[in-house]
Amino acid sequence: MQTQLLADLEYKKILDAVGMRKKHLIFPIFVQEGQQEEGQIITMPGIAKTPLKKITQQIHKVINAGISSIVIFGIPENRDMKGSIALNKDGVVQKAMAQIRKEFGNMLNVITDVCVCQYNFSGQCGLVNNNKVDNDSTLELISKIALSHAEAGADVVALSSMMDGQVYSVKKSLKRHGFQKTKILSHSVKQLSSLYSPFRTAAFSKICQFNTIDKSSYQIAYTNPRQILREVQTDINEGADMVMVKPGLPSLDVICMIKEKFAFPIAAQNVSGEYAMIKAAATYGWIDEEPWKVTTIASIKRAGADRIISYFSMDLSKYLED
Ligand code: PBG
Ligand code: ZN
Repeated sequence: MQTQLLADLEYKKILDAVGMRKKHLIFPIFVQEGQQEEGQIITMPGIAKTPLKKITQQIHKVINAGISSIVIFGIPENRDMKGSIALNKDGVVQKAMAQIRKEFGNMLNVITDVCVCQYNFSGQCGLVNNNKVDNDSTLELISKIALSHAEAGADVVALSSMMDGQVYSVKKSLKRHGFQKTKILSHSVKQLSSLYSPFRTAAFSKICQFNTIDKSSYQIAYTNPRQILREVQTDINEGADMVMVKPGLPSLDVICMIKEKFAFPIAAQNVSGEYAMIKAAATYGWIDEEPWKVTTIASIKRAGADRIISYFSMDLSKYLED
């Protein structure tokens, strides 16, 4: 007991030393359409797929932990050719969003993930034409989806498709429809990574095995740091409110570089694979889970992230001040 208290104190110290507060954390919620009960995600023990009916209950837990920001990832019951069901007014994200707004008012800062890969047959983050993801026709679709999320009450739309010009298009369309207050979090630096596979197991299980979906034509390669800076500059110029870097832990240098060069608000996502690694090794007794997750998140903060999206957010809240 005594050692536990000492350990907790040490975790608090580490997080405090890097200026980490609860308000910097964002908790991701998978909302599953067409189910009544919570679904488990094999590759992400402890993280659930929440049915629409249980959203309120789930969010009470988040609020009780003192976390005030969430990001919603929708898992629709069905997919279609183009993923156009993603913009249905009664789609899974739109419904969840409206329900959250109704129940919780403005208590929560709600971010919605805007993409098509959970909604189409290909699992690609855009419209596929001649076996290629077509950037420009995708922009229109993304803009409509973002608008539908804003209409349902989203505070922030997180553009995760990595299409060129996505910030400009979405911003223009939001503005035209009177949603200039809706903020844009652009995935400016979404690097091609094997660390998204537990997420895909959760959200894409019907259509793919791990990384069989090739996203190399739009996600950024690790081999090209200069392109990373160009993408960030472009998104800032197009009017993004915050830029996102992911995966988190393998991008500390990038976070630091962006902070130094642009002094612009940065979010980092500690992605599903980063969660799975810690969980798996801890399950085997190979590492000690608490200090590992504390130092992981502390290092992302120390590198310069202003906000951190992490599946560990709820666990870490007990070591943090508001
Ligand atoms: C899809 C999307 C992915 C993630 C967030 N949105 C996976 C992908 O690009 O295939 C990954 C998040 C995570 O791994 O936690 N646009
Ligand atoms: Zn996508």
